[in-house]
Amino acid sequence: MAFLSDTLARVKPSPTIAVSNLAAELKAAGHDVIGLGAGEPDFDTPDHIKAAAKAAIDAGRTKYTAVDGIPELKQAICAKFKRDNGLEYEPAQVSVGTGGKQILYNALMATLNPGDEVIIPAPYWVSYPDMVLLAGGTPVPVEATLENAFKLSPEQLEAAITPKTKWLIFNSPSNPTGAGYTREELKGLTDVLMRHPHVWVMTDDMYEHLAYDEFTFCTPAEVEPGLYDRTLTCNGVSKAYAMTGWRIGYAAGPKELIAAMRKIQSQSTSNPCSVSQWAAVEALNGTQAFLQQWAKVFQGRRDLVVRMLSEIDGVTCPVPEGAFYVYPSIAGLIGKATPKGTVIDSDEAFAKALLEEAGVAVVFGAAFGLSPNFRVSYATSEAALEEACRRIQSFCAGLS
Ligand SMILES: Cc1ncc(COP(=O)(O)O)c(C=O)c1O
Repeated sequence: MAFLSDTLARVKPSPTIAVSNLAAELKAAGHDVIGLGAGEPDFDTPDHIKAAAKAAIDAGRTKYTAVDGIPELKQAICAKFKRDNGLEYEPAQVSVGTGGKQILYNALMATLNPGDEVIIPAPYWVSYPDMVLLAGGTPVPVEATLENAFKLSPEQLEAAITPKTKWLIFNSPSNPTGAGYTREELKGLTDVLMRHPHVWVMTDDMYEHLAYDEFTFCTPAEVEPGLYDRTLTCNGVSKAYAMTGWRIGYAAGPKELIAAMRKIQSQSTSNPCSVSQWAAVEALNGTQAFLQQWAKVFQGRRDLVVRMLSEIDGVTCPVPEGAFYVYPSIAGLIGKATPKGTVIDSDEAFAKALLEEAGVAVVFGAAFGLSPNFRVSYATSEAALEEACRRIQSFCAGLS
């Protein structure tokens, strides 16, 4: 009898975490590696947020809390949804978990039965399909290609819906492409969903505050109020406030769904860290002024990376609307070989050779469900980005 479960065989470990670990190992062993794999801001958590956490510790707020969040944080989340998204929620419609990841996972665990389908635009954040599989559902990836600016079209969504579809997972601005849907583009999708009342939307708005140029963030329940009763609006403090290690994510949606998610959480992790919850209260209620300054810094980095990667023959690098990723195509490099004789026959081979022969860690596109591409996270210093792009340029120039 096999000791490990059949469920385990259905999923793979996170490739993005694997790349970050490998880059860290190589660095620790003395190799000159620039890591562009990690999806977290290089900024430090702001001092006023840290101070709130320290105050919480000093005040003894170190005990168990309500399973899915302290009332003060739920209030802050309701205020945030009203302020930023024009959405009205009450605390009973809010769930707080250990990172955005747990929120999404709870929702899938709480709703999926075997055979239930979840539409996932590809390229997608690596965890969506595996979380659906862990929860016993069937991921249905639909390719949103570079020609379509990595965005799902209404026609594609319509064609993917079956009687078994339970959710559409929507993520804008996107990890891994940075693509952001305009209000009109999103309305095209919500119009389709209005015709299919059995399909719910799980919107992952984690990169809401990282929007550049003229792009304005919008979210499904705001664009189509008719979807409010079947939308789970997910968000978190990880990316916006440089709080990846604090592990606080949240969502708002129908009370019954929130109660079901609470039940799952009550039998797994219980409450998210009490101190982190108090830090998140300050993040959401405190000054938001630095968000725009950070977005400006990220925008400058995006421009640098897009410019340098676009100079490479064989690489196509669209300009993303948000997040801190670019997702260039390497279609023009497939079939070439490095001076050492490594044949670039896939994006995985490209990323491996780039790491081993040029010391730059990126994540290959197959991990995100659309090839041949690679993902660059530009959440690192301009100097490191410039050097990394220079290395990618000379690596690609050396291919023949
Ligand atoms: C699109 C997306 N959703 C959710 C998450 C998870 O966020 P958290 O660190 O809060 O679990 C990430 C993190 O990489 C992400 O990129």
